[in-house]
Amino acid sequence: MTTGLNDISRDEFKLFQDYIYKNVGISLADHKITLVQGRLSKRLRALGLNSYKEYYDYMIADRTGEEEYHLISAISTNVTQFFRESSQWDFLKEQLPNILAQKADKKLRIWSAACSSGEEPYSIAIFLHANIRDFSQWDINILASDISKRVLTKAQSGVYEEKDVQGVPRNLLTSYFTARQSEAGERAYQIIDPIKKMITFRMFNLVYDSFNLFYSHFDIIFCRNVMIYFDAQTQQRLISSYHKTLIDKGLLFVGHSESLTRNKDEFKLLKPSIYQKI
Ligand SMILES: C[S@@+](CC[C@H](N)C(=O)[O-])C[C@H]1O[C@@H](n2cnc3c(N)ncnc32)[C@H](O)[C@@H]1O
Repeated sequence: MTTGLNDISRDEFKLFQDYIYKNVGISLADHKITLVQGRLSKRLRALGLNSYKEYYDYMIADRTGEEEYHLISAISTNVTQFFRESSQWDFLKEQLPNILAQKADKKLRIWSAACSSGEEPYSIAIFLHANIRDFSQWDINILASDISKRVLTKAQSGVYEEKDVQGVPRNLLTSYFTARQSEAGERAYQIIDPIKKMITFRMFNLVYDSFNLFYSHFDIIFCRNVMIYFDAQTQQRLISSYHKTLIDKGLLFVGHSESLTRNKDEFKLLKPSIYQKI
């Protein structure tokens, strides 16, 4: 039984700070101490633990890795939305005929590299389905990956609440989602199967997993709103991996507050937050 949870101490916070940096690549600044406490306290209560050190030891001792998933899910920020960063979709719409014209084999490989709960890869799939006239003749696969098992489970279900689909234009909502009742009796929206089938979901840690399998594989990579959590060195290494992973002249989309200042000889800037492999 939990008698009462003390505030997280500096030393306890440091344990999580070091662990998260080493295993996820996220640099948690010192002022994030209250945020970390807030996010972990629920889990400690659920487990009936009395201190953050006890929780740390419990997580380390869990050989299944299940508790590490809980920790990562609690720490990471998963905010996302359908058709986020409208200028990038305008750019893609304008450039799509050129991109398709380069692909004689009619194969497109796209990576949503920190896909959170799926709004980003589903937006990509819907966009392509809606904008490629001879869609049925194309072989298209979107890899959607994230480090958090919790968000991937939601992404794979393809079920969204009313508030999640606010940004989806009406015509797309009608064509690509079916309305249904959620378990709680609320109105919910299910992505239709042909769109779901375009996407392969998997867990992938951008900082520590190997990119070897993907060399020269992708036409386009979306890596949006995750690099801000990494330090400069980690960002630079990740961008270099993307360089190897993209085909010649492949495109890289980042978040609007992110830039590639340290990889100038690998990518050229086409538009704010849109880069092309050199
Ligand atoms: C703010 S969301 C961005 C979602 C989406 N790309 C967008 O822009 O709307 C950041 C995502 O990055 C994931 N993430 C954090 N560190 C990661 C890592 N080392 N490897 C893979 N994904 C990571 C988080 O789990 C979270 O889902």
